[in-house]
Amino acid sequence: MALITWSDKYSVQIKEIDDQHKVLVGMINDLHDAMKQAKSKEASLEIINKMAEYTKYHFSTEEKYMKRYAYPDYSEHKLEHEKFIENVLKFKEDYEKGKAGISYDILNFLKNWLVGHIQSTDRKYAPLFIENGLN
Ligand SMILES: [Fe+2]
Ligand SMILES: [Fe+2]
Repeated sequence: MALITWSDKYSVQIKEIDDQHKVLVGMINDLHDAMKQAKSKEASLEIINKMAEYTKYHFSTEEKYMKRYAYPDYSEHKLEHEKFIENVLKFKEDYEKGKAGISYDILNFLKNWLVGHIQSTDRKYAPLFIENGLN
C-alpha cells in the first residue's frame, strides 16, 4: 500500500498546483517503495535527487504566483519552503555519506510536512490565486 493516497481534501482547487502536489506525493511513495524493496543506494539516491529538484521547482511556482499577486503572507510562506528544503538537502547529504538510511522517521516527516503544509499554508493562497484567474 502506498504511504500517501491522494485525496480531494488535499486539493487547493487549482489544477497546476494540485498536479504538482500529486507528483510530490508520488515521489514520497516512490521513496517508500525503494525502502520496502531494499533498492540499491544508487537507485534510492536518484529518487531523493529528483524529489529535491522537483520540490524546488514546485516551491518556485508557488512563490512566482504569490509575488505576482502580491500575497501578503509571502515571506512566512517562503520561509516554510526554505526550512523544508534545508531538511531535504540535509537528509540527501547524510544519505550520500551513509550517515542516514531511508526510514519511517524520514518518510513520515516528508509525508506529514507535505500534507500539513498543503492543508494549512498552501490552502490560504488559493482564494487570491483563483480570484486572479488561476483554476
Ligand atoms: Fe505546495
Ligand atoms: Fe507552499
